[in-house]
Amino acid sequence: MTESTFTPRVFSGIKPSGGLTLGNYLGAIKRFVGMQGAGFETVYCVVDLHAITVWQDPAELKTATREVAAGYLASGIDPEKSILFNQAQVHEHAELGWIFNCVARVGWMNRMTQFKDKAGSNAEKVSLGLYAYPSLMAADILLYHATHVPVGEDQKQHVELTRDIAAKFNHDFKVDFFPLTTPVIEGPAMRVMNLRDGTKKMSKSGESDMERINMTDDADTIAKKFKKAKTDPAPLPETLDGLKDRPEARNLVDIYSALNDMTPEAVIAEYAGAGWGRFKPALADLAVEKLAPISTEMERLMNDPAEIDRILGRGAERAREIAAPILKQTYDIVGLLRS
Ligand code: TRP
Repeated sequence: MTESTFTPRVFSGIKPSGGLTLGNYLGAIKRFVGMQGAGFETVYCVVDLHAITVWQDPAELKTATREVAAGYLASGIDPEKSILFNQAQVHEHAELGWIFNCVARVGWMNRMTQFKDKAGSNAEKVSLGLYAYPSLMAADILLYHATHVPVGEDQKQHVELTRDIAAKFNHDFKVDFFPLTTPVIEGPAMRVMNLRDGTKKMSKSGESDMERINMTDDADTIAKKFKKAKTDPAPLPETLDGLKDRPEARNLVDIYSALNDMTPEAVIAEYAGAGWGRFKPALADLAVEKLAPISTEMERLMNDPAEIDRILGRGAERAREIAAPILKQTYDIVGLLRS
């Protein structure tokens, strides 16, 4: 069965563990906003059940869940145009996840590079949930028969596993029920790097706050962090090729291009030969212009948690309108009796 027989539907999710960074914004949320109303039904989730695969403080988890929701909303996810909810309020995710645990093979899970990276030498002590994580992710996607999943490069293998699960389910039960979902991986600054070390990904958990831009940073903090970002002494080159072995410089050019919806080539064309004394203030101004309104709106929303909870609750109801019939049919296909 091809995806074309399914309603074009986008699903994606962000984990509420720690705060949101510029990496989440440029790598995910900004693209999610762009897919809204572009011929797709869009379903966006705060994947709290994924967050607890590693320890989360319960009170902080609720705050982090609301913060991700606030980040989506402040960036332009419109709860009328998209379905926006948190995973735990739609119990069908966990139920389909269990069925997929019985479809996926241990050998497939053993090939997941993210698990190997996260578990490291500690593989005996991590939670069983961390190991099964990709099968819950497949359930998130297939519970909505999603045809397209915008994700970063690091999640591509998980979407491929989702396709393997869909194909095996369809084959084992002789049905054409689950679509083979397409990962959507594109755009510049897909991978926003650390401002102090351009070879590392910008992460929410790094030791120094100066190495990342948080989506909650105010205008002064954003400007300060870009002005103090690590660079090398050379000016910007004449061509993009000239940035090859200059990871910090490349990262700042990519961030500029993504924030301003232009190609890195066009940024270089504009700033060829410019020193950092010119480029960094320009980047700081641009970042403040684009990001400060978002952090201001996030702060306003976070001061009204009841409103966020209301939006997520309404989104969960709408999500269940799609999810419940698909789970019901799945149970029927599998032969699980419900009186
Ligand atoms: N695993 C994804 C990440 O770490 C988050 C996620 C969970 C997700 N379920 C999903 C992304 C479904 C896309 C679709 O970023």
